[in-house]
Order: sequence, then C-alpha cells, then structure tokens
Amino acid sequence: MPTDRVVSPARHSGEIGDEQEEALLTGRHVDRKGQSGRGRGFFSRWKNSIIITWAAIATIIILVFGVLYVRSHPEDDKPAHGAPNAPNSPNAPNTPKAPPKNTKKRNLIFMVSDGMGPASLSLTRSFRQFTENLPINDTLTLDRHFVGSSRTRSSNSLVTDSAAGATAFSCGLKSYNGAISILPDGNPCGTVLEAAKAAGYMTGLVVTTSITDATPACFNSHVNMRWEQDRIAEQQIGDHPLGRVTDLMFGGGLCHFMPNTSFGSCRGDDRDLIKEARKAGWQFAHNMGGFKYLRRGNFVKFPILGLWAPADIPYDIDRNEDEYPSLAAMAETAITALELETRTSDKGFFLMIEGSRIDHAGHGNDPAAQVREVRAYDKAFEVVLKKIDQMETETIVISTSDHETGGLSTARQLHETYPDYLWYPSVLANASHSSEYMAKLLADFPEPGKMKITEYIKDELLPLQKITDADDEEIARLVKAKTDGLSSAYVWADMISRRAQIGWSTHGHSAVDVNIYAYPPEAAKKLWGNHENTEIGEFLRNYLDVDVEDITKKLRQGGTHAKWMGKELSEILEEKEKSMGVGGKTGEVTVAGLDSYHGVHKRACMH
Ligand SMILES: *[C@@H]1O[C@H](CO)[C@@H](O)[C@H](O)[C@H]1NC(C)=O
Ligand SMILES: *[C@@H]1O[C@H](CO)[C@@H](O)[C@H](O)[C@H]1NC(C)=O
Ligand SMILES: *[C@@H]1O[C@H](CO)[C@@H](O)[C@H](O)[C@H]1NC(C)=O
Ligand SMILES: [Zn+2]
Repeated sequence: MPTDRVVSPARHSGEIGDEQEEALLTGRHVDRKGQSGRGRGFFSRWKNSIIITWAAIATIIILVFGVLYVRSHPEDDKPAHGAPNAPNSPNAPNTPKAPPKNTKKRNLIFMVSDGMGPASLSLTRSFRQFTENLPINDTLTLDRHFVGSSRTRSSNSLVTDSAAGATAFSCGLKSYNGAISILPDGNPCGTVLEAAKAAGYMTGLVVTTSITDATPACFNSHVNMRWEQDRIAEQQIGDHPLGRVTDLMFGGGLCHFMPNTSFGSCRGDDRDLIKEARKAGWQFAHNMGGFKYLRRGNFVKFPILGLWAPADIPYDIDRNEDEYPSLAAMAETAITALELETRTSDKGFFLMIEGSRIDHAGHGNDPAAQVREVRAYDKAFEVVLKKIDQMETETIVISTSDHETGGLSTARQLHETYPDYLWYPSVLANASHSSEYMAKLLADFPEPGKMKITEYIKDELLPLQKITDADDEEIARLVKAKTDGLSSAYVWADMISRRAQIGWSTHGHSAVDVNIYAYPPEAAKKLWGNHENTEIGEFLRNYLDVDVEDITKKLRQGGTHAKWMGKELSEILEEKEKSMGVGGKTGEVTVAGLDSYHGVHKRACMH
C-alpha cells in the first residue's frame, strides 16, 4: 500500500543496511554458529538436516516421556479442570511432599489471533477448500490442534477490548477495558514477559500492527489507558522501571518512535526513540532489506527492534511481498534467532506472536481481508509447529484469541423471504483487495466531478473486486463518501459481505467464547476444556516457572509507578466518559462493575 509508506528514517545512524552487512556478516554472528555465514555449503546444510531429523526423533521420544513428567510436575498443585492431580503417576519423584523444582530448559511461544472467533475458522476453512479445490474434510492446521475455549469478559464489561484481554494473558488477572497491565485499583501488575526476563529467559514480541498497540504493550509496559502509545514506546525500549525487558520486537508502529519534528511521526513530543534505542544498544531495522539481512534469524544481533511500517503492516490480501514480511516469516526469523541465542543458556525463551489484524478486518466487517489474515495466521502457526519439532529444547505453543470481533456470521438473510442455506466463498475469492485499500484508492482519486468519480468507480475500482452488478444506490454511497471526504471502506466491505451472504452484528467486539489451540497438546492439559482467559495467563507463568508476583512487588516499590503510567486513571475515565459516554449514565464510570441497561437502545458511540 503506497499510502502506508513513510519517509525512510535512514538518516538514523546504525540501522541495519547493506553497507554494514558485510562487516556484520564476518562478526560474532558467524562465531555463534561456528561456521562462516556465506560459506555454508550444500554439504553442511545436508549434514544439518540429518542432525535435525535425529533431533526431531529425539524430541518426540522426550515429549512422550515429557507427558508423564508433566503430569507429576509441581506446577500441577492446582488440579486441572476435570482432571484430578496425579501425584502417584509412574514417573513421579519419590518425594511427594517436596517435588523438585522445574529446572528443565523450556521455550514458550504464545500466539494471539486478535479478534478471531470460531466463525472466522469456519469462514477461512471453507474459503480455502473452495480456492484450493480441497476435499470437504480438509482443515486448517489450527483445527487439528484445538484443545479448548476461553471466556473473555473483562472486569468492567461482558465485552472485552484487546487491552483487558491481553492483561488477562500477561498478568493472569482481570482488568478494565483499556488497561495496559494495570489493575482496576490503578496499580501495575507484573507480566509473564517481565518475569521471564528476570528469570534469565530471552523475550520477544512479533505483531502485524503497531508494536505499541494493546496486545504487545501489555507484555512489556504499563499505562492506564491503551492510547498512551508514546509512553508505551518509551517503556518498550527500556525507559521502564525494570529497565529493558524485551530482546526482540518485530511489527509496525515506527511513527511512535520518531520525534514530532520529523515527517510521518505520530509522537506528541520531540523524543527520538530510535536514536535512544540505538544508544542503548538496540539494533534497528525498518525495511525489507533490513529484514532480509537477518537471514531468517541466523544473523540477528540482540536486542533487535524491527519496525516495518509506520503503523499497521498492510493486510495480507494487499501486502507486497517485496515490501513487508509475512507473519510467518517474522515468526520463523524470531524463533530461529531466539533459539540460537539461548543455545548455550540454561533458560529458553518466551515469544508472543500476534495475528493482529484479524481484528481489524472484523472491525471493518471485511470478510475478504479476514480470510487472508486468518490464513496467514494459520501459516505462521504451521511454521511454529515445524520449528517446535526441530528444536532440541522442550517447547510449547499456545494459541488463542483475546476476543471475537465483528459478530461474524457465516450466513446472512438479505430479504424478508426465508433464506437459502448457503454463503458464497467465490465472492471473497474474487475480491483482490481489502475494503481499506479500496477506500484509499477512491480517496486518492484526484478528479472532483461526480461524473468522473462515478466513471472511476465503475471502470477501475469495481473490476478490482470483480463486482459486476453494483446498483445505483451502492454507487451513490461510494460517490457520497468520496465527495464528503469520508472513508468508503464500510461501503466496500458491505458490498462484498452482502454478495457473499456473510453477516456482521457490530463494528466492535463481541462476547463469544474463543478457541484455544496447543502443541504438544499433552503439555497443555490444563487448558483442555472451557476456561477463563486469566487461566491462560496462569498457565503461561506456570509453564515457564517464573515469579510474576515478585515483579508486581518491584513495580509498585515506593509508589513511583504513577510517573510512568501516564495520566491519572480518574482523569482518563473522566475524559473517556466525556468523549464516548462510557457506561451511559453520566457521572458514573467504573473499572470493576458491569453497567446495566438504562433505556437507550439506539445510541451512537465511537469505536
Ligand atoms: C478425507 O477423505 C478422503 C476420502 O474422501 C480420505 O481418503 C482422506 O484420508 C480423508 N482425509 C482426512 C484428513 O481425513
Ligand atoms: C513537539 O514536541 C515538543 C515537546 O517535546 C513540543 O514543545 C512541541 O510543541 C511539539 N511540536 C508539535 C508540532 O507538536
Ligand atoms: C468471480 O469471478 C469470475 C471470473 O471473473 C466470475 O465468472 C464469477 O461469476 C465471479 N463470481 C462471483 C460470485 O462474483
Ligand atoms: Zn479490536
């Protein structure tokens, strides 16, 4: 998407560029692998694949025994749902009262499909069967690793947002919508990532939206409200009460790291966080050249900050492979790099990977974009499974969503007459762009006259989506959006959704339970069945055996946290109430209790 480009911040010294490549290639990266980077010949790769095969076989054997081990693991103190504790299982140590602490090296990969509900899976599965001509029993990779489902409400609403959702994962506690690892009482809570770092693990975040967005932010920062993204960015690079807690960050969101004096910045002040990060030792990369330089993770120097877009990375349906990395490529690069870096360490790594924009496609009610986002996420999941099978260190992946977005429905009644039972994947297959992209094309069209606009829509835009039967009303809505200077994205999305007979109930989130996936499934036994989202957070810290409470104590020491958490919570709630009437009733905003119906069944509210 040409519009997503920002003036290249190449003037920042020390970014990873071609001119440094040669020097760095002969540097310590090479030492770490114990072989010369470019000299890695066919033979050594072939030899490696034999080693990897043996490692995979060994891993399977270890995993089989691991199942028995996990059953008697001390973290099983609290019984799993429906599964009683098994202290006397065959492999249990002979000291039932004080079982040994877990000293085993472990990696944890936590994947978040933001805004992906069960309907998104059905939609994408059928879409894929249609487009790739697969049999009806063909499934997504995720489908084959389903273990349970999660209940997602927050402390102040039955419908959570991504901030409260991610706080449940990072802190293992419920908080209010908008909270970035802050509790309803206004105090920060330690996160699994911070605790992992303190325990000696390497840590990473990989996303397709801004790295300062709610889901990633909840793992390595603490602010009262999610839109304080400038503060989040500062904390993420190490201006944080615990110092730098993250070793790798890949995603978008460059604009929050650029001073307000430079073109394309979205910061409120003139701090140059790229410069600050570099001074603090971060490697910085911001384009495809920089990404390719990382050689799929074999040449990464830590800590590394890779911000590939000013804000969001384009939707997969619009993404130019030469301009932006895929989620799968970022995931693979991150895992390989973290694996190499922890090779000789007695602790592994914690990596969070988010398919951030499934949620955006849901907000936009754009099914054509969403099926490609879910597919891209499924491909990333596939890559993660492959890496896990190759790794020597015990590794688990847990994949879940923070909530559903859009109230997606894979059927839609368009008329009074009783509907046929069907929906049409071919319509989604025929659309070549997201509604966001189509809206941008229309907004950028330079001719003002209605005739010219109408012609442009009919001759240039509709063919891109293969819409051949647009009616006058639809065209009029597009023209009106253009002449009013508004986005036409919702109109484009609606044209596709109606034709495909796909339904949506909201441009916001919904309260439906979301799925949990895991591999290997036995190691995630505690997440089998239906769970509160906070139990996923508990699982993460227990799996890594890290002390999150100790981090909470450190964060609260001396009450200094108020300085870096942004505005006072009360101040923020007041602002929020004024701007969108949160809770409806004036003068009453809560972060812990639920609101109740108060006679407004048609109320305008911003998203
Ligand atoms: C799908 O069905 C076909 C027969 O129609 C069968 O041969 C194949 O094994 C099935 N695949 C799976 C994954 O069940
Ligand atoms: C840029 O940030 C500085 C504070 O760092 C502020 O004084 C100035 O008004 C800002 N400029 C703009 C254009 O926002
Ligand atoms: C999709 O495009 C093909 C080829 O242009 C066309 O024949 C078909 O009717 C389209 N399908 C739908 C559902 O629009
Ligand atoms: Zn959302």
